[in-house]
Amino acid sequence: MKGFPSSTQQIPVVRDVPRHVAIIMDGNGRWATTRRLPRVAGHAKGVEAVRTVVEACARRGVEYLTLFAFSSENWRRPAEEVSLLMRLFVNALEREVAQLSDNGIRLCVVGDLSAFERRLRELIASAIERTAGNTRMTLTIAANYGGRWDIVQAMRRLLAKRPEIANDPELITEEALAPHLAMAYAPEPDLFVRTGGEQRISNFLLWQLAYSEFYFTDAFWPDFDARALDDAIASYRNRERRFGRTSAQVATSA
Ligand code: IPE
Ligand code: IPE
Ligand code: MG
Repeated sequence: MKGFPSSTQQIPVVRDVPRHVAIIMDGNGRWATTRRLPRVAGHAKGVEAVRTVVEACARRGVEYLTLFAFSSENWRRPAEEVSLLMRLFVNALEREVAQLSDNGIRLCVVGDLSAFERRLRELIASAIERTAGNTRMTLTIAANYGGRWDIVQAMRRLLAKRPEIANDPELITEEALAPHLAMAYAPEPDLFVRTGGEQRISNFLLWQLAYSEFYFTDAFWPDFDARALDDAIASYRNRERRFGRTSAQVATSA
């Protein structure tokens, strides 16, 4: 696995357009509730926002877009909401994959998929396969994903591959572990966005967000559109990404 340089090992190149945008799509339920609609109506509307933002990101030259769709803690929700979310996921895969494919989008899914029904797992596998050759943008859906799960599964995979490490813990390094993380195929997110007003990570990409720029907006996810995305990117452009250095060092390196 060739992998991307890690922000803690090497200072990444900073561009005007974030190469990787990771989004916690939050606020679907409140979007619906403020309209006296059932929460699931907000989730359905949220799928439309996904469509808009995927296309807008691809047009702006974002190479990787990662969307948090279902966390490892979202099973705690009422069974009815969980099953409606699963149905929406199935419908979206059935309906949207052809267009993703036509638009040159490669689909990836990260998370513990073993918890999903067989039908959903099959649809995910076939969508991944169908879009595997696309190069315009990589869209990753994080489903039954948790940042802690990711670090633990990476450690398990590392130890399975190199059992001798168990007797020599010095061999456990960032470089050894990182290739086993679920998103090793992508650079770390440059820009992290959370809609819906909360300012927390909610167990999203814990390892990979080490040096990401954070952007929070009160907009509910179904209202997040291309303009809102541009606001986030404009804010990102104004950040000074120091990666541990001083401002003066950043200025002379540019
Ligand atoms: C995000 O919206 C979607 C998922 C977590 C699946 P929410 O459903 O969390 O919406 P709020 O936060 O309750 O408004
Ligand atoms: C995070 O949102 C997960 C997704 C958007 C999929 P939540 O709504 O589940 O987060 P908390 O519970 O408010 O932290
Ligand atoms: Mg929420």
